Amino acid sequence: MSKNLNAIQIADKVYWVGAIDWGVRNIHGYTTDRGTTYNAYLVMDDKITLFDTVKKEFEDEFLSRIASIVNPEKIDYIISNHSEPDHSEVLPEIIKAVKPEKVFASVMGKKALNAIYHDLNMEITAVKDGEELGLGSKTVKFMETRMLHWPDSMFSYLVEDKVLLTQDAFGMHLASSERFGEELPWGVLKTHVSGYYANIITPYSSHVAKLFEKIDTSGLEVSIVAPDHGPVWRNMDNFRKVLSLYKKWSARKLDEKIVIVYDTMWGSTEKMANHIEDGARSSDVSVEMMPLYSFERSMIALEMLDASAVIVGAPTLNNNIFPSLADVLTYIKGLKFKTPYGAVFGSYGWSGEGNNLLREYLVSIGVEIVDEIKSKYVPDDKVKEECFLLGQAVA
Ligand code: FEO
Repeated sequence: MSKNLNAIQIADKVYWVGAIDWGVRNIHGYTTDRGTTYNAYLVMDDKITLFDTVKKEFEDEFLSRIASIVNPEKIDYIISNHSEPDHSEVLPEIIKAVKPEKVFASVMGKKALNAIYHDLNMEITAVKDGEELGLGSKTVKFMETRMLHWPDSMFSYLVEDKVLLTQDAFGMHLASSERFGEELPWGVLKTHVSGYYANIITPYSSHVAKLFEKIDTSGLEVSIVAPDHGPVWRNMDNFRKVLSLYKKWSARKLDEKIVIVYDTMWGSTEKMANHIEDGARSSDVSVEMMPLYSFERSMIALEMLDASAVIVGAPTLNNNIFPSLADVLTYIKGLKFKTPYGAVFGSYGWSGEGNNLLREYLVSIGVEIVDEIKSKYVPDDKVKEECFLLGQAVA
């Protein structure tokens, strides 16, 4: 059976014309274990208008979906809500092929697109926050969402249909045949919305909080939310749950949860981790054990999103930080979690610099160190007891 390359209607004269990337497993360091979609939308009004595009390798799929509705050469306007290449890589080609009347982006979007592509084949028209554009029977209102999550980012609101096109915000990396949130189980949606927020949006949480203020004060009514990744939110009950999660995360509300992240060379640091876990579990908090021989950085980020404490352990290797921990800590630092408490532990053979380096890293991201323990070679009974007490102290 041939691949379904039809557009899918999401509202009156509004169609999804994006692409499904089943195979992608890494997007700038974020492990996308269920692939993703690159969503683009076509509005069939007097001015036929395309919102965003897709990654270059999906150009044919994207053009076929547009062609299932209209000859792509009939497109009048293209609106770039976000200039990151997963949504703009086809733009220079499509401008060349279609020769639209106008291409719109935010002021910062115009700068970014010109800096990314150098030759876009036409001048971009910059639009400002609150500006409106008539398409015929429909009106687009632009909403600047700078730093959510790039400087150029903006939302487009289809006023008459109450459809909010939100580029990356409220999206998820999840390839699926289903195009609407209500067609998927809430548990699946929650996992991928959470992973997306943790790995992409967290550093810009203050901008999410500002967005909510803006939406609340403008009294914006929304019946469909169409992001640039993952399913379209048409069931507002589900979307309200997403909003409530975004509100919690952007307000940096944390759970009584400890994440224990560690790696081990010959099992000594893992023995310490197990005694720390026992100590932590003696209180009524949840504990996530995350050995880095089984968990990768995006999974750690997901659990860190609402954790109140992180306990980090590694053996010293060649007078230095253990490489898997260096990777995860570098990634976590960039995501700017606000984890208040932490501790460090690890085994060593000769010099034992590992703990110092782990501690320095945690302090540099604002974690208050509650305790630390190191073990020369294999932990003895005294060290095991100290590990238990460390877990208890953090809990
Ligand atoms: Fe999906 Fe920020 O690009």
